[in-house]
Amino acid sequence: MNAKEEIAQLTQELNHHSDLYYNQDAPVITDSQYDEMMNRLKQLEAENPELIQADSPTQRVGGKAVLGNKIQHIVPMLSLRDVFDREEVSSFVNSAIHAQADSAPLFTVEQKIDGLAISLEYKDGVFVRGATRGDGETGEEVTTALKAVKSVPKKLKQPYPGVLVLRGEIYMPRAAFARANEQLELAGKKLFANPRNAAAGTLRQLDVSIIQERALDLFVFNVQQGMEDITSHAQTLQLCSQLGLPVVSHTVCSTEAKVFAAIDSIAELRGSLPYGIDGAVVKIDDRPTRERLGNTTKTPRWAVAFKYPPEQQETKVLDILLQVGRTGRITPVAALEPVLVVGVT
Ligand code: IVH
Repeated sequence: MNAKEEIAQLTQELNHHSDLYYNQDAPVITDSQYDEMMNRLKQLEAENPELIQADSPTQRVGGKAVLGNKIQHIVPMLSLRDVFDREEVSSFVNSAIHAQADSAPLFTVEQKIDGLAISLEYKDGVFVRGATRGDGETGEEVTTALKAVKSVPKKLKQPYPGVLVLRGEIYMPRAAFARANEQLELAGKKLFANPRNAAAGTLRQLDVSIIQERALDLFVFNVQQGMEDITSHAQTLQLCSQLGLPVVSHTVCSTEAKVFAAIDSIAELRGSLPYGIDGAVVKIDDRPTRERLGNTTKTPRWAVAFKYPPEQQETKVLDILLQVGRTGRITPVAALEPVLVVGVT
């Protein structure tokens, strides 16, 4: 296959999987398979820019909104640039040191929550509107559904005059996911593929009692609009917390070594957290520097997502063994090729 054919094929396949993932909550490939195809497409497009297709998945932000009222985001909900190795983190940290030449930059290192991106809008301290990310420019209104999520404050704990727009992630804790799937199984219905799809599917439920029952949860990690007088991102998160919002776990770091230590400690915690994370997000803390750096068409220049290896891995069935029990009952057991999942074989 030549580059042109391979680009056309990858574009078509990735669009298909992106539709299954974002619009139908029914992925059939793993995130790492998707990332692998996407990386291959990016590589081919970088070598042959004249062959980039108009509908290439590299040219847009995310999935398309399909339900509910369309909401135009006041501040576009961008995606994050993924990095897969330490050198890329290192060059990001060093670029920040150049960008903020007048003082030593601070960074936050945050858990990257594996859920559904949403925005929350408060007016004079009252929750008035919630939306999904959609394609980043336009999302879908999910205000009623979000009101059914216990940890979404309907009213902030302290007065906050004017408009405050927050960005966060709705997720389903592991225990709630297991419970939801048990119930679906009992009802003979199709199970959720993973907690993220369960969160997305649940938020789209019209029946509010199902949303309450499924125990979705929230972490806030960015102020999209508001708190203009605060120059530190970490301080905005602190104020969010005082306002009663559940804030993502984060560490403020002053050196590259501390950034790496924080990334490693999140990786170690990963298996024991009651919810899923798929990486660590490294952000420049200084908001004026962020403004100055701005965004590319898809991602901010002031943050990167360091992706951990996936929690799900594919492997081969090597053999099917028929175990005969004491009563003569036969149990088929699959022998799998050993594979590393979150540090465990
Ligand atoms: S910051 C403008 N911080 O990851 C950038 N995103 O792959 C705002 N995510 O769509 C995003 N945890 O929904 C940020 N601590 C965190 C995050 C986080 C999860 C999601 C977010 C975004 C996706 C990008």
